Amino acid sequence: MPFRHKLFLEESAGTALIVGDLHLHPGRDGAPGTDLLSLVESLDEKDLLVLNGDVFDLDRVGGEPELGFGPGAAAARIARFLDEFPALGQAMKTWTSQGGKVVWLAGNHDAEVCLPEVQEAVINRLGIDKRSLSFGEKLVINNEITIEHGHRMDPDNNFYPTTSAAVKRGNLESLPMGCLVTRMLLTRIPEYRRNGEHRSNPWQIFTRLFRQHKLAVFKMVALYLVMALRICKLSARAAYRADTAPWSSTFGILAAARRLYLDRLLAALFLVSLGIVAFSSWLIDNEVPVYIALASLFNAAFLLIPTRRARLYGSRDIDSVRNYAAGMARQTGTSIVMGHTHQPETKPIDGQESTLYLNHGSFAKKIDGKRPLGVYRHGLLELAYFPPPPGIKSVKVA
Ligand SMILES: [Fe+2]
Repeated sequence: MPFRHKLFLEESAGTALIVGDLHLHPGRDGAPGTDLLSLVESLDEKDLLVLNGDVFDLDRVGGEPELGFGPGAAAARIARFLDEFPALGQAMKTWTSQGGKVVWLAGNHDAEVCLPEVQEAVINRLGIDKRSLSFGEKLVINNEITIEHGHRMDPDNNFYPTTSAAVKRGNLESLPMGCLVTRMLLTRIPEYRRNGEHRSNPWQIFTRLFRQHKLAVFKMVALYLVMALRICKLSARAAYRADTAPWSSTFGILAAARRLYLDRLLAALFLVSLGIVAFSSWLIDNEVPVYIALASLFNAAFLLIPTRRARLYGSRDIDSVRNYAAGMARQTGTSIVMGHTHQPETKPIDGQESTLYLNHGSFAKKIDGKRPLGVYRHGLLELAYFPPPPGIKSVKVA
């Protein structure tokens, strides 16, 4: 539920630090968590820390029953990470006991923090005062800036009609495609994540995986097809129950198949099989002309290199977050802070320097050795990097 926060900042005139997209989960490289710990330790007690979504990747399941969906699984996964990394929880506890405040906004990969059971479990696990940690989907500070994770208008990551309403339904078909792909494929075959993600087309991913894993890639392709068929089935159910937006990638079988390139993959598989049969026949008894085999294989390759579609999907999340931010800025008259795209940027809205769209990028993805974040202080909103230059105690605007 969107909420307004009559901020701590009005009383304290501290700094709001906005970080997001750390994607922490059990077993991951702890470096972003270590740097978040250092950031928390550098905060002043008047500051506000905004965790702007995807702080934890609750879609990174480990083969739990029912793909680990629901408040119990989400709380357990956060607790498992904090158990692996107790210093971060301790630093939060110390800082909030001195007056520090935290607002945690839901992203697409930690959407279950909208559930009261998960919120309570996190507060109990951290052992911090309830008044020091709030949860929500949107934060407005002093009518000057609006902060949101930004996944709301991304067709691959939209929860319908709102993030909290969708997670409260508690079924897999309420999850957007990005969450389903992470749960069903990327967790189990991390090589996919390392070699492609959503901006690559099937041919690019296949060739990268083939270079590294040789024939094992065919098993990965088979698992991809199983996942894609399963997501199509869930998407059919989601569209039937009106649990997904008409412009979402999970609006029915056709939308899901298209987004997952399943239509082209199946057609290419058919053509490859036809090509092999034709080629064998040409070799054995010269009955089928060889050009039929070659034409089949050529068409299969053509189907796997969908340039136009890849271009559309390649930048769709970035464009949709930018457009959403611009619309919201016009509507609210505030500057907008979002994350989600993992691409830090600042852009004046409609060319007006007074209203800004700021994307803080991913705190897990270093740029020139530093981690990006948003900083808002005394009406000034800027992109900053952590750690700050030597000799400066707390974060300063870069
Ligand atoms: Fe996100």
